[in-house]
Amino acid sequence: MALADTRPPVAVPVADGVHWIGALDPGLRQFDIILRTANGTSYNAYCVRGRDGVAVIDTVKENYADTFFARLESVARYDEIRAIVLNHLEPDHSGALPELMARAPQATLHISARAQATLKGVLRGEEELSRVRITTGEQASVSLGDRQLAFLQTPYLHWPDTQCTWLPDACLLFSGDVFGCHFCDARLFNDRVGDFRFSFDYYYQHIMRPFREHVLNALELIEPLAPALIAPAHGPILREAPCDYVRRYRQLAAPLLHNEAATSEKTLLVFYVSAYGATERMAQALRDGAETVEGVRVSLYDLAGGEVAPFVDLIEEADGLVFGSPTVNGDAVKPVWDLLSSLTLVNVKGKLGAAFGSYGWSGEAVGLIEDRLRGLKLRVPAAGPRARLKPTDEELRACRDFGRDLSLHLTGRIEKRIIDMAALG
Ligand code: FEO
Repeated sequence: MALADTRPPVAVPVADGVHWIGALDPGLRQFDIILRTANGTSYNAYCVRGRDGVAVIDTVKENYADTFFARLESVARYDEIRAIVLNHLEPDHSGALPELMARAPQATLHISARAQATLKGVLRGEEELSRVRITTGEQASVSLGDRQLAFLQTPYLHWPDTQCTWLPDACLLFSGDVFGCHFCDARLFNDRVGDFRFSFDYYYQHIMRPFREHVLNALELIEPLAPALIAPAHGPILREAPCDYVRRYRQLAAPLLHNEAATSEKTLLVFYVSAYGATERMAQALRDGAETVEGVRVSLYDLAGGEVAPFVDLIEEADGLVFGSPTVNGDAVKPVWDLLSSLTLVNVKGKLGAAFGSYGWSGEAVGLIEDRLRGLKLRVPAAGPRARLKPTDEELRACRDFGRDLSLHLTGRIEKRIIDMAALG
């Protein structure tokens, strides 16, 4: 029987004077509750040595701190650490920070301005907080004597606090979660690990995609650097063709589908589910009314087919969203909630939103959907139409008028006015 390897973990060289000092978590199958991680993950941290001292870039999840400290101790003494850089303060990267600051009391901590509020939840001691430096403005670089660290402000990738750290002499980008993925492989480097492309795209779709505009802003900063090496906070270190991964982000952040609507047209998507045809008739009437307004392309979709993913792609591009649902047991029906719960994957803030639907007894579905839309920060301009059982001609006329008004809102011909329906009782 083979004896277990009891040797302490050691640092792995990444570049001249740069070591990986992170931890592997191969058994993880779910990250942050929502992400599947079939191949586990890694918490990547790095040590950079210069003539006058050492910088530590990021730490690890708290229960992997022992591994992190062992790897760090294999390449540096604590009294050599001049700087600790946290690119992002989520606990998977800040878990060992308090202990690291305690072991290296001379070190300063470098974080983005937006990280300050979060930091107070990570560090509790005034002494530690007094050692914090902000990575923007004139004092924004860190000197290790013969080499410097600079910082790229990349907010919302995927938290407000996120930044990247740039080591110019090695053309090395410590990118935090950006260009990362949940893929654990002890071979560490992208030219040696198993095929992780699905994991790279999956991570982008679930973590970065809602912040697409911020991704594009960050790429404007990163592309001109043409990094020779990208060291992310999760997954393989990208040393073979790293710019291919930058280009992949550019592709992933591009519009997903060619939009047949003219660029001057607004797009309104109407989704519905209908049990006995009543909500369907309301949807058709709403569509007919919306189409009477020039400059709006209206699309109608029945969610009974069970598809969600293609609609998420369409929603990302659309200007207005309308959801129709009957009320069943005091609630909207599952296909509608399935689609609404998927909207956390894209940025829908500021889009026009509305709801409608038929009901037998109480008709809560419309209000519940509107609440959800407001929660996602859509503009909900008016309470949507409801009809008991079969809609009357008058109720269908109201649906047409409602659709027309939504199109007028989209084209700016009705002044934007948000009604707080909760205040109406
Ligand atoms: Fe890997 Fe957003 O923490």
